Amino acid sequence: MKTYLETDRLILREIVAEDVDGMFELDSDHEVHRYLGNNPIKNKEEAQKSIDFIRQQYTENNIGRWAVVKKNSNEFIGWAGLKLIKETTNSHIDYYDLGYRLIKKFWGMGYATEAAKASLAYGFNTLNLPEIFAIADCDNTGSNKILTKIGLRHKQVFFLNGIKCNWYRVSREEYNEYT
Ligand SMILES: CC(C)(COP(=O)(O)OP(=O)(O)OC[C@H]1O[C@@H](n2cnc3c(N)ncnc32)[C@H](O)[C@@H]1OP(=O)(O)O)[C@@H](O)C(=O)NCCC(=O)NCCS
Repeated sequence: MKTYLETDRLILREIVAEDVDGMFELDSDHEVHRYLGNNPIKNKEEAQKSIDFIRQQYTENNIGRWAVVKKNSNEFIGWAGLKLIKETTNSHIDYYDLGYRLIKKFWGMGYATEAAKASLAYGFNTLNLPEIFAIADCDNTGSNKILTKIGLRHKQVFFLNGIKCNWYRVSREEYNEYT
């Protein structure tokens, strides 16, 4: 099982089939899906399919979201990291998107910020990406706060599947200026 990043409190590693219970807890929660289209999953088969889909991206794109694991307990608490977006979104295609999703009982402890910050650093310092993007529902206060706090720049408001969303970007030059 490959580990990609270690922060003060977290390990970011590849998602594996054994994460199915954690992925089910994560994606079956309607509160987690409040700003993600309101369509939580109903069974573990769907969780397994998500894992397969993410692992396929590791093979095809050399990158995909990673499992976020608490170092002191080895618990799976959600996922975070970069994804290569191959579908046109807000007139962009083939770009790297930063994202995160945590099981509700782990919210409000700074874990998402910690994982997002480390993932951004990996994108610029290890993958040498020229730019990284992110999207958040305008009403998703926590997520918008995280993106701004770690240095993403708000570029515009756009509609994604009828939902008003914020579009963020940061270039490597901008990132290097504040790190
Ligand atoms: C978005 C999410 C990852 C935030 O996780 P979290 O663990 O609460 O994030 P953090 O603890 O790192 O908090 C980040 C900041 O946002 C604030 N925040 C978090 N949720 C908030 C809320 N609902 N309302 C207001 N502020 C909130 C925190 O207080 C913190 O602020 P601070 O830096 O000033 O202390 C989590 O709510 C989640 O997994 N949601 C479901 C999936 C999702 O929406 N993903 C993002 C898609 S764009």
